[in-house]
Amino acid sequence: MKKLIAYVCMMFFVLTSAAQSQTDESKMNRFVSGLMKKMTLEEKVGQLNQYAGGFATGPNNTRVSRTEDISKGLVGSLLNVSGAANTRKYQEAAMKSRLRIPLIFGLDVIHGFRTGFPLPLAEAASFDLDAIERGSRCAAKEASAAGLHWTFAPMVDISWDARWGRVMEGAGEDPYYGSLVAKARVRGFQGDDLSKENTILSCIKHFAGYGAPAAGKDYNSVDMSMGQFANFYMPPYKAGAEAGAATFMSAFNDFNNEPATGNSFLLKELLKKQWGFKGFVVSDWGSVGEMMNHRYAKDDKEAAYKAIKAGLDMEMESGCYAKTLVSLVKEGKVPVKLVDDAVRRILELKYKLGLFDDPFRYCDEERERTVIGSKESRKEACYVAERSIVLLKNEGSVLPLSPSIKKVALVGALAKSQEDMCGTWSCAEVSKVVTLYEAMKKKGVTVDYHDGYDLKKNQIVNLEQTLAAARQSDVVVMAMGEQAWESGEMRSKGDISISSEQQRLVSELVKTGKPVVVLMMCGRPVIFNEVRRDAPAILCTWWLGSEAGNAICNVLFGDYNPSGKLPMTFPTDYFDIPSSKNFPMVGETKSGKNFDYTNYEEDIWVGYRYFNTVKQSIVYPFGYGLSYTNFSFSKPKIERKNNKWIANIEVTNTGNVSGKEVVQLYISAPETFIQKPDIELKAF
Ligand code: GLC
Repeated sequence: MKKLIAYVCMMFFVLTSAAQSQTDESKMNRFVSGLMKKMTLEEKVGQLNQYAGGFATGPNNTRVSRTEDISKGLVGSLLNVSGAANTRKYQEAAMKSRLRIPLIFGLDVIHGFRTGFPLPLAEAASFDLDAIERGSRCAAKEASAAGLHWTFAPMVDISWDARWGRVMEGAGEDPYYGSLVAKARVRGFQGDDLSKENTILSCIKHFAGYGAPAAGKDYNSVDMSMGQFANFYMPPYKAGAEAGAATFMSAFNDFNNEPATGNSFLLKELLKKQWGFKGFVVSDWGSVGEMMNHRYAKDDKEAAYKAIKAGLDMEMESGCYAKTLVSLVKEGKVPVKLVDDAVRRILELKYKLGLFDDPFRYCDEERERTVIGSKESRKEACYVAERSIVLLKNEGSVLPLSPSIKKVALVGALAKSQEDMCGTWSCAEVSKVVTLYEAMKKKGVTVDYHDGYDLKKNQIVNLEQTLAAARQSDVVVMAMGEQAWESGEMRSKGDISISSEQQRLVSELVKTGKPVVVLMMCGRPVIFNEVRRDAPAILCTWWLGSEAGNAICNVLFGDYNPSGKLPMTFPTDYFDIPSSKNFPMVGETKSGKNFDYTNYEEDIWVGYRYFNTVKQSIVYPFGYGLSYTNFSFSKPKIERKNNKWIANIEVTNTGNVSGKEVVQLYISAPETFIQKPDIELKAF
């Protein structure tokens, strides 16, 4: 009887909540349809325009005040404006418009807001989806307290080519894992209810294939088979749509010879029709207008025509819609229903955010003061940062540093750099970043700090003093790597090796006979073979954000046992990169060899799939990471149950400290007529 009552109650709940959402949906439809009936064509086109209200994150920023256009209802959204008071000011201008349609404010909140979190690639190294979701949740809480409704994140572009600077922004090389991370980040940003004022719209970007530019050169052409796209690059975009991401952003690149921003296969056929995406698509900075650079449109008007026909709903910055869309409709070249569809998608999300009820609900200066930079945010940032660190080498158990250590020679200018600790695409308050130097001083050891090398000139400085300090210490900790600005947008590199001078310094320090711990600080996989050979202990610490110093010290001193795994393969040699033979290193182009445009021959055999099959020499592959303890695995037991394959394995911690292991399950497809990589990650 009890079960029956429970079942009836559950069914009642399910039916009422389904009915409720149906009511909400029809209420929203009635409201939006009613509003659209009142809108002029000019006001409809106004909703499709987004401009930068503050700083520029792209070229040709017009930097004119939009306040007048806003009060005429000719602007739908602003980007790069934040702050409760600042956004209120612009929203007040929108409330002066005839129909009082509120603006939505967007910003690149990529890894934390004012409290900086680890780079997305670093967070991905945690292989901890809960930690990743919590990072996005915290970012949403802080960003929404600063008047923001929308982040242009998560970036879900799969990439295995570390020459491309924006690998720092994604989840690495694996489509299965990248899909799970995309869902976790969308959940983090959007929560389960967009009407709550501490949730923000997410944005799946850059649609599509932006992570596969020829030669790893940012913005370069993307050309791939549909098999490679469907099996390798597409899954995380689809996962984001399935997770209910509110918006998508079209990519700068052309995708199989057609700019993504005017690509109706991507935006209309795949995203909106096949995947049933109900949100809206925003262009990447100026990419509607840049269809002229692609020589795909001869002028603003043709660019606007191709974009709206392809299903591009909101235009960021280039103003082609603002200038020409009304006349395109009046001339009968663009059916008004295309404009109506775009407007509806945008108004529905403004409705879901609750902005028609209260346009100022995100402009609460009191909430801004209490939420941003809170102790809770800092704690979350440290929690996620600790889990993002990967232990690459630990010969002779140099790590964790033993309690008997009294004096540390801390070497490397990066150890003191607050700006670098944030990484690129950072909104963090730099002055509140805890550096490695600051944190180490609080660990109760004497810290003898030396720059070791000049970051700008990339050369060793004061070598004798540095070596003397090493000899007089119990251990040397060397912070090295690339500077934060060396990865990110427009930061492609032909050579991903770490400077030979920094590496030479490590070798000199090792010769002193003191234990040397290397902290590799980077935004991408880097090559550092001399260090890998000479240093007994190496941690990959990426760029970890506001709590970087505390997280690194917690791992160094054993308060947290590192559990991270590499989300991208670290090639041992530049020519391990599959397509490197087609694309010469930067140095070689000087000899007249250009970056000839060549297809990727490896097709689906990229990342660990390639390295595993072709290159046994890889030392630090995808999924690799050590611990301060050891784990043994029993032989997996495979069984079939309820039409599923279940793999059971027993993991034993055989060491003497507790720790966390990421068990990874790879499968191989049987020989079939379909090309498949030798191994594919299918669970962890
Ligand atoms: C940039 C980036 C994109 C970002 C946009 C707005 O060029 O490509 O990721 O969201 O412009 O800042």
